[in-house]
Amino acid sequence: MSERLEDIAIKMVAEGKGILAADESTGTIKKRFDSISVENTEENRRDYRELMFSSDEAMKNYVSGVILFDETLRQKAKNGTPLVDMIKAAGSVPGIKVDAGAHDLAGFPGEKVTEGLDGLRGRLKEYYGLGARFAKWRAVITIGDDGRPSWNCIHANAHALARYAALCQEQNIVPIVEPEVLMDGPDAKHTIDRCYDVTVRTLQTVFQELYVAGVKLEGMVLKPNMVVPGQHAGAKASVEEVAAKTVKALKATVPAAVPGIAFLSGGQSDEEATAHLSAMNAIYDLPWTLTFSYGRALQAAALKAWGGKAQNVKAAQSAFAHRAKMNSLAATGKWKRDLELKAA
Ligand code: 13P
Repeated sequence: MSERLEDIAIKMVAEGKGILAADESTGTIKKRFDSISVENTEENRRDYRELMFSSDEAMKNYVSGVILFDETLRQKAKNGTPLVDMIKAAGSVPGIKVDAGAHDLAGFPGEKVTEGLDGLRGRLKEYYGLGARFAKWRAVITIGDDGRPSWNCIHANAHALARYAALCQEQNIVPIVEPEVLMDGPDAKHTIDRCYDVTVRTLQTVFQELYVAGVKLEGMVLKPNMVVPGQHAGAKASVEEVAAKTVKALKATVPAAVPGIAFLSGGQSDEEATAHLSAMNAIYDLPWTLTFSYGRALQAAALKAWGGKAQNVKAAQSAFAHRAKMNSLAATGKWKRDLELKAA
């Protein structure tokens, strides 16, 4: 595989493929395991990730890259094969979450800034040695009817994203730049138009900071939220409205030099996340590839089918392969709702 940043970025957004976000921190995977009453042990985490990475149908056909948590990058499968090698053998690119999580933003109650820049250069060097060829850093922006997000929150997060992205490129690692305007949380009562405004302001600031930091746009992947109403807004938006407003926000802010945009699912249902992506690709002529980098919307069905039991591994793998296939179709605008019904 070519080691040029541009080539790795293009591979990550190859046609009909997308990224599996399997980088839940130990705390976040606990929440997922709690939902299926599975104990959060290192072995269970390994077994769960191994079942996805050994699902040949999904990995070889639909998954261009996998984002891992530090522990998983170092873990071996039951038979002793490093999990990273399983991902590479399937033709997929291993990646690593490098941020240290979102922490309270001093002086701005209810807002967060992502930490993890200290020592990042050294950690990137090590991760490269362990096989990672791309990285991820997630910033979160909360909307509230009390003035949130503040300019300081948007700016501090955009600045950190740009410093992270520049460090990644220096180490020959493609940065996934992820500024997430949250759709969930107790205060998420905002309209889709408010999400649109905040998403545009956030992306404008992020690209301004990337420019100032000298980040090469051809060697990165953007991972944004879609433009949707808050989870507790009451009113739902149609698939067409989400597609139209998301594409409008991206066209207004994302330079065409960026090779691809891989969305997060952010709390949308599996099928909503697929339908929205498919509509954007089916209806619009776009300068970048639009694909998925889903965590929950790719894994929820597989997690439930597995339930922590070895005898359910095959069922979990087929649930994962189905979701990956639906999203692969969405990445080329060819998904149809009746394909879901046939599989059910
Ligand atoms: P979700 O698709 O579950 O939002 O996760 C994607 C991700 O990587 C968040 O950082």
